[in-house]
Formats: sequence, C-alpha cells, structure tokens
Amino acid sequence: MHKLLCFATKRTRCLTLSVSLIICLFIFSQPSIQRHIFGVCACGQCVADIFYDAWFRMHYDPNIELLLTKKNSILSDALYRWWQKLQYKSRVNYKAVSEMLFGIFPNEEDYSDAGPGRCRTCAVVGNSGNLNGSHYGVLIDAHDLVIRINKGPTEGFERDVGLKTTHRMIYPESAVDMDNSTYLVLIPFKTLDLQWLISVFTTKHIDRTYIPVKPTIKANRNKVMVLHPSFLKYVQEHWLQKHGRYPSTGFITLIFALHICDQVSVFGFGADKDGNWHHYFEHKKHPRNAGNHGGSYEYLIALKLHEKQGIRLYKGW
Ligand SMILES: *[C@@H]1O[C@H](CO)[C@@H](O)[C@H](O)[C@H]1NC(C)=O
Ligand SMILES: *[C@@H]1O[C@H](CO)[C@@H](O)[C@H](O)[C@H]1NC(C)=O
Repeated sequence: MHKLLCFATKRTRCLTLSVSLIICLFIFSQPSIQRHIFGVCACGQCVADIFYDAWFRMHYDPNIELLLTKKNSILSDALYRWWQKLQYKSRVNYKAVSEMLFGIFPNEEDYSDAGPGRCRTCAVVGNSGNLNGSHYGVLIDAHDLVIRINKGPTEGFERDVGLKTTHRMIYPESAVDMDNSTYLVLIPFKTLDLQWLISVFTTKHIDRTYIPVKPTIKANRNKVMVLHPSFLKYVQEHWLQKHGRYPSTGFITLIFALHICDQVSVFGFGADKDGNWHHYFEHKKHPRNAGNHGGSYEYLIALKLHEKQGIRLYKGW
C-alpha cells in the first residue's frame, strides 16, 4: 500500500512538472510576453512600446511599404489613381520609369531590422522658426540618424540645428545639393518626380515641373531612396484622416521615422513663440500655415504622439 502511494505521488509530480514546462514554453513563445521580459528594442524607451495603445494601433500599420523597390513597384489601380490625382498630372509611363529607376539606383536599403538588440535614435529636423535661438545643435547631432527636410540648411545655423545630415527628404521643387554621405530620400508626389530623379543623375534635361526646378543637384547616386506612393496614401488616410490636400514633407518624415527608428526626437515643428509660421533661415513671416497642408492638424497629431511617448517633441524657443 505504501509503495503504491509513493508511486502515484511520483507520477503526479512528474505530470505537474511536465504541465508546468509546457505552460512555461507557451508563455515564452508569445511575442507580447517576450517583449515585456526582453524589451522591444535596446533603448530605454522604444517607439514599439506604444503598440499597446489603442489610438496608436488605429493609426500605425507595421506592414506598410516604406520604400519603392523592384519587388513592390507594381501599384494597385486604386493606389495609382490616388497618386495620379495627388498633385499634378503628367503623361509619364510609370512602368517604364520605375524599371529605369532600379537600373540606376540601389534598392536594397532595408530598415526591417528592428529587435531587442537594436537602439536606433533619430532626430527629425523640421524648418520652423522656433529653432532660432534654441541651441539644439549638439543634441540633434547626438542622434544616430539626423533627417532633414527640403532646403533646411546647416551652414551658419549649426548652434541651433547641428551639422550632421544622414538623410534629406526632398522633392524636385525643394531639392538642394547634399554631401556624399547623405541619403537622398525622394518623396514622389507625382510620376514626373521619378523621371526628374533619373534625369538628375543622367541626362539632366528636366528643368521644369509645374515650376522651374534644378536640372541637377550634387548627391551620391548610391544613396538614393524613394518613398513608396502607398506610404504617402497611408500618411494621408491613416494619420491625417484626409485633413488637407496632402501631408507636408515634415509630417511624412515624422511618420517615416516612426517606422525606421526606435526613438524619435522631433525638432523645428509648428509655429514660433509668437504664433508665426516661418523658416529658421528666412525672415518672411506668414501669419498662418499657408499652402495645401492641414498644418495645425498635423501638429495636433505630433502633440498626441508626444503625449503618448511615441516621439519626443522639442518645442523650440
Ligand atoms: C561618394 O561616395 C561613393 C561611394 O558611395 C564613391 O564611389 C564616390 O567616389 C564618392 N564621391 C565623392 C565626390 O567623394
Ligand atoms: C533669429 O533670432 C535673432 C535674435 O532674436 C533675430 O535677430 C534674427 O532675425 C532671427 N532670425 C530669423 C531668421 O528669424
């Protein structure tokens, strides 16, 4: 009798142990639990930490196409129609142009290396007048990536905006020369922009879109990237709920950074302390944010992201 009892206990113990082991294995295989234990990235605070927030999840699509590549260059009819209506219709054969694009520029840049071992910090530097007098230069340069927008210069403004530029987001009408080490990221508002990009590095014959543009700029052709049109649609529809005709370059850049970085610091967005919208490198002041963009709505979204610690918004001076 005693022996039998003992045997039964052993079996129960063994069973308990096996069941515990199975439960443990199950728990550790759950990505959400792994994140809690091991962290989503190697920074203290990660963009991915706010995946738990319902508002964020409503806006953020982790599977959206970021960059145009050979593999994802075929666009759905709906996307193509949306893109064609965005800015300015031109009779350009998209298929031919996109094929030529990948003959000239590399398309292997891949930012999908997020994980518990990575801590990529990014500074998105807008062009607001609120940078004037901010002394943010050293802080901005301390980030792994420093992403600047359109013509935003560094020379002569280093104390406030820093001097490092790893990425510059442009479109033909806002293009400027850049260093050999800077990535040129084209935001294609229209098909003609892709054709212009090709022309810049080859024939240099396109000197006009809807306004005169630079037929060529100094830039490294091995460091050229093109945002995917579906990313633009995503920003306009998911993030801005179609406020404004299309999103500003600054806001597109902010959302791009949310997708490729583990920590995002945002500088030079919004009005200056007197409520004026102007550039830190220009004196002309606009009383309101002019143009096609839902500027103040974009700023509200940026504030909300800051509140939820998805980004850190530096409000300037
Ligand atoms: C720029 O960098 C590329 C490599 O990415 C190199 O081949 C080229 O010679 C460099 N050009 C200049 C002007 O430094
Ligand atoms: C920047 O601030 C200084 C000091 O207030 C002022 O003199 C200068 O005009 C400002 N620059 C621009 C571009 O607004």
